[in-house]
Amino acid sequence: MTSDFAGFYKLTPEERLRVVGKFAHLNEAELEILRTSGPLGIDAANRMIENVIGVMPVPLGIAVNFLINGEDRLIPMAIEEPSVVAGASNAAKMARSRGGFWTSSTAPVMIGQIQVVGSVDPNQALSLILASKEEILRKANEQDPVLVSKGGGAIALEAKVIQTFLGPMVIAELLVNCGDAMGANAVNTMAEAVAPLVEKITGSQVHLRIISNLADKRLARARVTVAKEAVGGAEVVDGIISAYAFAASDPYRCATHNKGVMNGVTAVVQATGNDTRAIEAGAHAYAARSGHYSPLTRWEKDANGDLLGEIEMPMAVGLIGGATAVHPVAKLAVKILRVKSARELAETIAAVGLCQNLAALRALAAEGIQRGHMKLHARNVAATAGAAGDLIDKIAERMIEEKKIRADRAKELLAEYSKAD
Ligand code: MEV
Repeated sequence: MTSDFAGFYKLTPEERLRVVGKFAHLNEAELEILRTSGPLGIDAANRMIENVIGVMPVPLGIAVNFLINGEDRLIPMAIEEPSVVAGASNAAKMARSRGGFWTSSTAPVMIGQIQVVGSVDPNQALSLILASKEEILRKANEQDPVLVSKGGGAIALEAKVIQTFLGPMVIAELLVNCGDAMGANAVNTMAEAVAPLVEKITGSQVHLRIISNLADKRLARARVTVAKEAVGGAEVVDGIISAYAFAASDPYRCATHNKGVMNGVTAVVQATGNDTRAIEAGAHAYAARSGHYSPLTRWEKDANGDLLGEIEMPMAVGLIGGATAVHPVAKLAVKILRVKSARELAETIAAVGLCQNLAALRALAAEGIQRGHMKLHARNVAATAGAAGDLIDKIAERMIEEKKIRADRAKELLAEYSKAD
């Protein structure tokens, strides 16, 4: 079944739900969970965090038209900002012109850091740690036999001496293949468990024992070719590349460029119950890894004048553990995405980030960003004034033409159209 649904946005939420239900084989009970928009009961919420008094729902939208590695996908996005879902859907449609998105990723390896302080000879402490590598890895893997039985676990140990304003420190780093988990629990447990051994080996004190969110061993990548006609012609292609050049050289623009990428990334991370802060922290730290804060995406054109884009970023997302496994909507988001592994989820999210960036740059290079925002705003004003069905679009379009997007004008137009009927 294709994800290229013409007019999906014109359907009612119930009609859209039926289409998605058919695509993702959701049963009636699952459709009801999505329909009732507040399915996270107070008891479940109270088990998730502390001092609970309620829940804070955000809209869940579906971006259509995605073709990723030759497969049609529907993308659940949880986000409060208008135009993001529409932007992703439009840009995904453009991307179909040359076969959609192609993705890859590295193994799901996370880093656990162990901070060793007070060594008289830091370089000797480092050598002692590395000499005890097998013992430390064995101790780490004893903590998570399930992960190890599934092919994951601590796979390597590295160490470095860093200079700080308090003097040198030795940092031991456990590299852990987290399989289908995000991995924070597994990695933190391992880092804490090996700490006494590291203290014994080095005769020094271990201080912090914690995962690093700069997950640069766990990268997701996506690339896309878009026919120049599909983006709006050669001038728009050049405009997008010029926008990228701006971001590549100016951190003020680059922050906004990457924010546009994260609109797509974070919305899917949120919809699947993954840790949005971990992904955001990793993304921006990775963008700054050269010492110059840089775009997460790159854009150029090929010999044909078509647009080529790619993205590479850390993507520490999981399918097991955490909210993903317990939140009723997150579970359905995973089902709608039809992803079978954390890597597949990570790659899909990278493709959405690249697509969202394409949507933003195309809009900025072509008509400017406000037109899309205004359209949704005008539709909301029309609906609030009492318009329904086709009248919402008619009144919204008139208000945009007249540059008068106001409740009083919407009411006047509603009265005018109602009289004409
Ligand atoms: C708005 O949420 C995101 C944009 O500002 C991104 C960009 O400027 O590239 C449109």
